[in-house]
Amino acid sequence: MKIVIVGAGGGVGSVMADWLSRQKDFDQIVLAGRKKDTLKKALDNMKGKERGKIAIVDANNIADMKKCFKGADMVVNSTLPRYFLKIMKASLGAGANYIDMATDLAVINDTPFQKVKRVPLDLQLDQDKQWKKEDLAAMLCWGVDPGAVNVFTRYIADGMNKVDEIKIRDGDKSIIEGFDGFYSPWSPDTLIEEVAYMNSLIWTDGHWERRPPLTVSEEWEFPKPVGKMKVWLVDHEETQSLPRFIGKGCKEMSFMIHLDDEWIEVTRALKKVGLVDCKPVNARGVKVVPRDVITACMLSPVDPKMQSKTKGNISVGAAVIGYKGDKKYMHYIWNTMSHQQCWRSYKATATPTQVAIPTAIAVTLYAQGKIKERGVFPPEALDPKPIMRAFTKYGFKWEQMKKRIE
Ligand SMILES: NC(=O)c1ccc[n+]([C@@H]2O[C@H](COP(=O)([O-])OP(=O)(O)OC[C@H]3O[C@@H](n4cnc5c(N)ncnc54)[C@H](OP(=O)(O)O)[C@@H]3O)[C@@H](O)[C@H]2O)c1
Repeated sequence: MKIVIVGAGGGVGSVMADWLSRQKDFDQIVLAGRKKDTLKKALDNMKGKERGKIAIVDANNIADMKKCFKGADMVVNSTLPRYFLKIMKASLGAGANYIDMATDLAVINDTPFQKVKRVPLDLQLDQDKQWKKEDLAAMLCWGVDPGAVNVFTRYIADGMNKVDEIKIRDGDKSIIEGFDGFYSPWSPDTLIEEVAYMNSLIWTDGHWERRPPLTVSEEWEFPKPVGKMKVWLVDHEETQSLPRFIGKGCKEMSFMIHLDDEWIEVTRALKKVGLVDCKPVNARGVKVVPRDVITACMLSPVDPKMQSKTKGNISVGAAVIGYKGDKKYMHYIWNTMSHQQCWRSYKATATPTQVAIPTAIAVTLYAQGKIKERGVFPPEALDPKPIMRAFTKYGFKWEQMKKRIE
């Protein structure tokens, strides 16, 4: 099987290239992207580098991507969400299956406190018939969150006859020794977009609404060793797909992530001066995108100096509250990873590793003919049991807890 990873020089793409190169299911792994130097680093880091190959391609250029994707069985999109619709178009045109790990949130940003009718993910889901007609699969929103948590949620919900509430919670308790700057462990562009640029999305009373960014928070008890942390409601993909694909009467759903106080303070200030925006402005005769200036000034998430010094753990999971018969309970499933263990295994922190592995497992299941669905679908549309078994088989450990609620 031949795979093309677009954005293979990035945090998630490079771990995925390494992971896939360790499996026997893939004959050729093409590392595609704009910059030869970052792709070369990713290639050098692959255990099975003899099966890797570099291709220079710009995700803005559909015609070039189509040429690059010809003959590929699957395109793994590990670029930024603003390119997703273009990469989908090029994959469909080239006759290649497709998988991604997010959606382009910024295409629809409704006013807070109003009913939201359509969400950005609909622009991808709307293409279902075209993909089915070509007998191809577009597997949306893999990764860990979204991704593994969608599978966890479906697995839990299958054991309930009624679902009241879904809570996706993401906590990272880590430090970078000797560093006091503004750093994002994954795509800084995406983090700024979902946390500060977009109004947060919530499913409440059986419909979507938005809230102004960074206004809703709570304390969440993550499983040890992470423990209790403050988490914030942000705009995220799971809220767009889970309530409607899970159904079962689900009335409430929220995605909340831990962000430290300094991150909140800096991001609020950047937002106030318009620096998180992505429309170009004229700065002394030069057209610049304000957010590009911030991300250009920040360290790259794949900076080895930062990654090697990151210590601590991340815990990402799904807690579902619902009923089996007349018994109400919460069932929580999560994955915890240690930054240092991931550094030793993949030369990356747990942040990209936790995203890359479940995605790579989904690609492997597809390669093995164990995912047979066609069309455009999120992870929770699939039978979760074989995927949970594959998570265990390939070392993506999940733990669970059930608690009765009176
Ligand atoms: N589902 C989840 O759990 C989860 C979690 C985190 C992230 N994600 C998603 O995963 C994706 C990758 O995230 P990341 O943290 O790996 O980000 P990243 O480190 O910034 O990597 C993005 C990659 O895209 C490449 N790229 C950007 N513009 C391009 C263009 N025009 N043409 C070709 N390549 C281009 C970048 O290459 P350059 O060096 O050329 O800029 C870089 O290699 C993002 O979509 C993010 O939203 C998902």
